[in-house]
Amino acid sequence: MTSTFLVMLMALAQHQGQHHHDPQHSFANTDRWVEEFENAERDAQQKPDDVVRALKLSAGDVVADIGAGTGYFARRFAKAVGDNGIAYAVDLEPKMLEYVAERAQKDGQPNIVPVLATASSPMLAPDSVDLFFICNTIHHIGNRPAYYEILARDLRDGGRLAIVDFRKDADLIEGPNEAMRLARESLVDEVTKAGFRLVEEHDFLPVQYFLVFEAP
Ligand SMILES: C[S@@+](CC[C@H](N)C(=O)[O-])C[C@H]1O[C@@H](n2cnc3c(N)ncnc32)[C@H](O)[C@@H]1O
Repeated sequence: MTSTFLVMLMALAQHQGQHHHDPQHSFANTDRWVEEFENAERDAQQKPDDVVRALKLSAGDVVADIGAGTGYFARRFAKAVGDNGIAYAVDLEPKMLEYVAERAQKDGQPNIVPVLATASSPMLAPDSVDLFFICNTIHHIGNRPAYYEILARDLRDGGRLAIVDFRKDADLIEGPNEAMRLARESLVDEVTKAGFRLVEEHDFLPVQYFLVFEAP
């Protein structure tokens, strides 16, 4: 076997173990992502119900799940906030939003509202959100300082920003490769520089940090 072939094989193995996270990569192939995001193995380490419970939402709250993907968390937020609340499923990939909308209709969850975002804005109104939630997506956002400003503008008084993402210091087969991951410390640093205050940190997720900030 030539060394070039070996390198190709290793690259392929790595590609299959981790989703290929160059920031531009496409989430248009929904079938593939449904398989990856919506499975029992993921539930075991992502603990979505525990995550939502830890956020102590109230009936009527407005939650915006940025980079909602297949709606894995948005569906749970919609249940937690009840009929008078809203779970915005914010994503820049129209195919993901189509999937979310169809599933919400099938499941009878009219309070899941798909929102087509741009790379630089969630496209929501100022002073309209109680909780921004960003899971496995913050590393896809380019100009984060400017993005945090928009989030601060859109949060109501006492509003929160919760971020869950893969630890940089762990040896992981899940998630983006090490170079793409953001260290917990740099993330806390940049979010607090934007005026947010770290108010809670949960450590029950095996491979991710889970940080909760309060709006400036
Ligand atoms: C790795 S997936 C995470 C999906 C979901 N949060 C979950 O945990 O199952 C990242 C998602 O973020 C979306 N995305 C990437 N950049 C974004 C941006 N700037 N604004 C909104 N969505 C974005 C992608 O289209 C994709 O659906």
